[in-house]
Amino acid sequence: MNILLINGPNLNLLGTREKEVYGSKSLEDIQQDLSVLATQNQCNLISFQSNAEHEIIESIHSTIEAKIDFVIINPAAYTHTSIAIRDAFLGVKIPFYEVHLSDIYKREEFRHFSYLSDIAEEVITGMGAKGYEEAMLKGILKYRGK
Ligand code: DQA
Repeated sequence: MNILLINGPNLNLLGTREKEVYGSKSLEDIQQDLSVLATQNQCNLISFQSNAEHEIIESIHSTIEAKIDFVIINPAAYTHTSIAIRDAFLGVKIPFYEVHLSDIYKREEFRHFSYLSDIAEEVITGMGAKGYEEAMLKGILKYRGK
């Protein structure tokens, strides 16, 4: 199986950025741990991070050609603003899990709304880096053999 991990804007700063909110693991550490988990489950993980909305959209479009089975995405601030990322997922019809390190529902009101959650397989929020692992294992269980 092929899994695409997408991390949105400012997540390249993980490990130094607002550690009390997002934890002390760097994005490289998170990607590395997820890669190991993917390999243990006979899966291939492709990791991508971008601060640019159009690059995230293009990576979602690329899932068809790349034969991706499902996507794990932390859209970061684009969660709350991007109709274009929503439309990209609807356009290519790729299943995806929405992950947030912090609990977006317990933070500022502007973070409570997500343009993606009603079309996501599941929203995993507030579990820190473990949330990505949870999403991966759920996706593998659901899409293996499909
Ligand atoms: C985030 C939550 C978003 O509101 C925020 O803009 C982020 C990270 C999270 O992982 O908790 O950049 O998606």
